[in-house]
Amino acid sequence: MTLSRSQIIGVGSFLPEKVLTNQDMTAIVDTNDEWIVKRTGIKQRHIAGEGELTSDLGREAALRALAAAQVKAEEVDLLILATTTPDNTFPATAARVQAQLGITKGPAFDVQAVCSGFVYALATADNMLRLGQAKTALVIGAEVYSRILDWEDRGTCVLFGDGAGAAVLRAVEGNGQLPERGILSTHLYADGTRYEQLYVDGGPASTGTAGHVRMQGKEVFRFAVNSMATSVRTGLEANGLTVEDIDWLIPHQANSRIIAKVGDALGVPNDKVIVTVQDHANTSAATIPLALTHGFERQLFKPGDLVALTAMGGGFTWGSAILRW
Ligand code: ACO
Repeated sequence: MTLSRSQIIGVGSFLPEKVLTNQDMTAIVDTNDEWIVKRTGIKQRHIAGEGELTSDLGREAALRALAAAQVKAEEVDLLILATTTPDNTFPATAARVQAQLGITKGPAFDVQAVCSGFVYALATADNMLRLGQAKTALVIGAEVYSRILDWEDRGTCVLFGDGAGAAVLRAVEGNGQLPERGILSTHLYADGTRYEQLYVDGGPASTGTAGHVRMQGKEVFRFAVNSMATSVRTGLEANGLTVEDIDWLIPHQANSRIIAKVGDALGVPNDKVIVTVQDHANTSAATIPLALTHGFERQLFKPGDLVALTAMGGGFTWGSAILRW
């Protein structure tokens, strides 16, 4: 077995041009800025333009991540794209992005784990890189939730937005020992018995239509806080680390109250928790790479910093990744 780790060497994100503020939402459903901000922290969401697809958002984020990593698309030999809103039922949106970027090596496939999609995709890429099945991976989270929202349901349509984020990972070998920097561990979970608490009421096999997001908000809220905090604790313990070792906590950006409660449950101070949900709402699989890019572009992460990522989403699915920047 080689002594290697996967390192994130560049990240990037992309948000569509069109913005819908909370004030704009009042023209669509019976809502108001005060309710949305107080319950969720969300101030605005970006909406993909007509004809703008998940692959378009994912490709733009990927190009920015590749530029940040100073890696050419030809060097990529693994592409994993996390999405719940693929361009088509098949082929995988990952394959479309692969072609658009001119990547000709290695596999390209989608991962479907809803809001946990990026953590699932990152874990999959990490395992493949450490096994030597690829050297340079592009991991993308991209969504156009605006296409699966019921724009008459004020309980859900105010919560989501469109966007994409990407990370370039490279397998790095240590000199006779494991490199100190890179992904230290990933932990993934699912509980399919909670299907009805968060699902889309359509799909190719059930209705033949894309369907709309349906959610029992309070149940999701409770489960999200508990599962994200627990999976971070499990990740830390697996590495002999404690909460005090965390330099940056990046929870899935669904709702600022969930994020604050995850931080409180773990005992991580607010100034170590990255929050971007106010700017783009819940973009599902894209929120973590959007928040990662926010921190990266502001040079918040110093070499050696311990970064904990965690997400929870439909399925239910959840998990964490602990990495040394
Ligand atoms: N504007 C104004 N009023 C609203 C809106 C809205 N957009 N939506 C619902 N309301 C009303 C309801 O109709 C209800 O009115 P009533 O008391 O007259 O019946 C009232 O507000 C309270 O509704 P609740 O659903 O009980 O509100 P709650 O306090 O639970 O907040 C929320 C709802 C924000 C959805 C909350 O449950 C939540 O954050 N849940 C987590 C859901 C989430 O983030 N999901 C994302 C996907 S999963 C994930 O990413 C982890």
